[in-house]
Amino acid sequence: MGHVLVSGATGGIGKALVNALVGAGHQVTAVGRDVGRLDVPGIEVDLAEPESLAAAAGETSDAAAAMAEVDALVYCAAIAPIAAVADTDPATWQRILAVNVASAAELVRQALPALRRSRGHVVFVNAAPGMTGVARWSGYVGSKAALRELADSLRVEEAPHGVRVTTVYPGGTATELLREVRNTFGRPYDPDLFIQPHTLAEMICWVLNTPRDAYVCEVSVLPSPR
Ligand SMILES: NC(=O)c1ccc[n+]([C@@H]2O[C@H](COP(=O)([O-])OP(=O)(O)OC[C@H]3O[C@@H](n4cnc5c(N)ncnc54)[C@H](OP(=O)(O)O)[C@@H]3O)[C@@H](O)[C@H]2O)c1
Repeated sequence: MGHVLVSGATGGIGKALVNALVGAGHQVTAVGRDVGRLDVPGIEVDLAEPESLAAAAGETSDAAAAMAEVDALVYCAAIAPIAAVADTDPATWQRILAVNVASAAELVRQALPALRRSRGHVVFVNAAPGMTGVARWSGYVGSKAALRELADSLRVEEAPHGVRVTTVYPGGTATELLREVRNTFGRPYDPDLFIQPHTLAEMICWVLNTPRDAYVCEVSVLPSPR
């Protein structure tokens, strides 16, 4: 059993993941701006400001202790504003890239000494499989392309330290984010037709719990055909 840092822990997938991890006997520390409302310890930080992560991670002795003994990190936080390039201002670009990528890199950087000690595991929750060239979604899709590259470089860099890196590509998963996205794109939303958050959470737990001699470096998860 290990200690897992989870960002996006207050979201649809993140909350289910925290429950699944706690249920499986893991210790969990949530990282985010409103983690006080969860039943697990938290590191309070706005991921739109990656530069504030270092201070937040050392702010209390509990936060510092959590960062010092991490076995795994799951980066699940994201925002997904929908707008054409013509209508996206620089502040929006900066916010998307900060929450979806730069804070992922910075959280990993803060946790790396512990992850190297534990020969740990980093899991990045990316976008739906195969997403590219989506009109009105360049910020989200572009940020997730950068997150994939972050994962791929990190995997090579950290292999000598025994750190494993996995990207999970979830298909539509029944959360508030998916409801909002489908609404904005003018598409119907029936939560029963999508992956249930607890199912995806169980799959991420499985990724974290594979035996030491092998691991899953990428996994695409699709809703079953109905
Ligand atoms: N749902 C899907 O169909 C689907 C499909 C493919 C990929 N994904 C990916 O799965 C992950 C989780 O998605 P979800 O559906 O569970 O979305 P969600 O319910 O909207 O959760 C998003 C999480 O990100 C956190 N977050 C956003 N901005 C933040 C900030 N500035 N500082 C700290 N935390 C912030 C939110 O925290 P607050 O509670 O504080 O807002 C929340 O915990 C995302 O990476 C998403 O791209 C989802």
